[in-house]
Amino acid sequence: MCGIIGYTGDRDTEKVLIEGLKKLEYRGYDSAGIALSGEEEISIYKNEGKVQLLEDRVKEANVAPSFAGIGHTRWATHGKPSQLNSHPHRGKKVVIVHNGIIENYQELKGELAQKGIRPISDTDTEIAALLLDQLYEGDPHAAIFAAIKRLEGSYALGILFTDRPHTIYAVRKDSPLIIGKGQGENFIASDIPAILEYTHDYFLLEEGEMAEITKDNINFYDEKKRPLEKEMLTADWDEQSAMKGGFPHFMVKEINEQPQVVRATLGQYARGGNLFPNQESVFDIKGSIYIVACGSAYHAGLSGKQIIEKMARIPVQVEIASEFRYNNPILRKEDLVVIISQSGETADSLAALRLAKAQGVPTLGIVNVRGSTIAREAATVFYTAAGPEISVATTKAYLCQVALLNLMALKMAEKYISPEELQEKLQQLFSLPTLIKEVLKKESQIKAIAAKFKDAEHLFFIGRGQDYALSCESSLKLKEISYVHSEAYAAGELKHGTISLIEPGTPVVAVMTDRSRIAKTAGNIKEVHARGAIVLCLTHPDVDCSDFADELITLPECSDFIAPIVGAIATQLFAYHIAVARGNDVDKPRNLAKSVTVE
Ligand code: AGP
Repeated sequence: MCGIIGYTGDRDTEKVLIEGLKKLEYRGYDSAGIALSGEEEISIYKNEGKVQLLEDRVKEANVAPSFAGIGHTRWATHGKPSQLNSHPHRGKKVVIVHNGIIENYQELKGELAQKGIRPISDTDTEIAALLLDQLYEGDPHAAIFAAIKRLEGSYALGILFTDRPHTIYAVRKDSPLIIGKGQGENFIASDIPAILEYTHDYFLLEEGEMAEITKDNINFYDEKKRPLEKEMLTADWDEQSAMKGGFPHFMVKEINEQPQVVRATLGQYARGGNLFPNQESVFDIKGSIYIVACGSAYHAGLSGKQIIEKMARIPVQVEIASEFRYNNPILRKEDLVVIISQSGETADSLAALRLAKAQGVPTLGIVNVRGSTIAREAATVFYTAAGPEISVATTKAYLCQVALLNLMALKMAEKYISPEELQEKLQQLFSLPTLIKEVLKKESQIKAIAAKFKDAEHLFFIGRGQDYALSCESSLKLKEISYVHSEAYAAGELKHGTISLIEPGTPVVAVMTDRSRIAKTAGNIKEVHARGAIVLCLTHPDVDCSDFADELITLPECSDFIAPIVGAIATQLFAYHIAVARGNDVDKPRNLAKSVTVE
């Protein structure tokens, strides 16, 4: 996630901005920059790499006095990490920093090109700057409100106008932005940590509102440009808890970010029903698909297999990268090898990618970190827009991977399903943010259930089809943060041996989101329940499991197509609260690294 800071007051603006960016580094970034608004002009300093490099450059520069300024740490979404693509971006009279994704930037870029206005970078943000610049004729309110009417997607914008050197403007949609209230100085920031050194008083900028900030005044306006009174809040967080947005751990903060990051991920590749524009060749698959990954990314692949084979009838083989790379796999040039990786640096997954490329097989990366090795070396890359994932246990990146695979399955199925069904499934995918929020509202119920299982020594997850894939991911999530031994089992496979482990009190989580398999899974659950298992069911509200469920978590009303994605939120929270109850270091579990860059 990008980081934004802005300041207007009597301190050294550049120092406040750089210190603020340092407090936002934890959000993950690849470049940094600041803009300083002086009497004559707005000066911009920016570079790829660390804030420290920016600080060194500013110190060497002969920085003119400034009244206000904005700063930015960039987590690349459009355009590779580079000095040119880093923020701030500018037009003639406007300079902006941006957190979010402008989904219709290509259309806007085309409109601007018709007026002879062309960007110099590859970013969506520069398009927003050029649009705002083109609309500005001396009235910042008119220009800003006109511009945001044209922007689709998510944005938090810090804005400077060259002819208003004392004032910062801010506006947001989906991406967070706060307005800090000081004494004779004021701030904007993506997150509280950036301003805690100066003030604990702040305002939350809501969707569609605009703020006009000078060192002595903060004025708010609603989406109809009417002045707005807002309640001032006071943060009682220390810096550490502030970085977690007030959540106790990064993991649960990231679980709660899933509605917006799933929306951002899908929005990159579904423009008004046009899926993966200009990527037709990737989907022209004559052979099989090999999905190769590790850990949770592998489990995302298991889920993707189910949905791609069901929708597009293309054979999908899911492989553990550390096995695949030494199996001398039988690949053909008409196949497609898909490498899924949050970090884009996992050694086994990278080796698998290189093996496929060496055999002349087309490769596709599904990666979260822009500019990572797998992203750079895959023939094509689709990015998840989960933002930086600090917690070692992945949640939001995994969910974005599964959502993206579902969107890819729809693209591959385009020629087999009617436009109506395609639209219906697309709407279901885009309803995910709302459905995820519904499950997040059940956190206290899930926490109470988790408390009953926190002392388990062994815990089984069982399911069929996509529910088996979700069982695998849920079991890994539990193991890696709670240290409870767990196994995922295809429900129909239990009776072929493992059921001998079931005894009175053995906890079993039955994942039943795929309605087409619920009856069969219910039969397997009754088998374990009859042997004394304590069963927690995860299923739809209309499914009657009173005969065998000791505990129940129900999903919001949703279709089978997306139910396993919705269900993952519940099992993430279940694992999280067991780990917390056991007093573990949830964000940094023992023995684990966020990216396994060695064999
Ligand atoms: C997931 O919670 C684990 N941290 C781990 O299994 C991870 O998914 C695996 O190491 C793959 O990492 P990658 O997605 O960065 O390649």
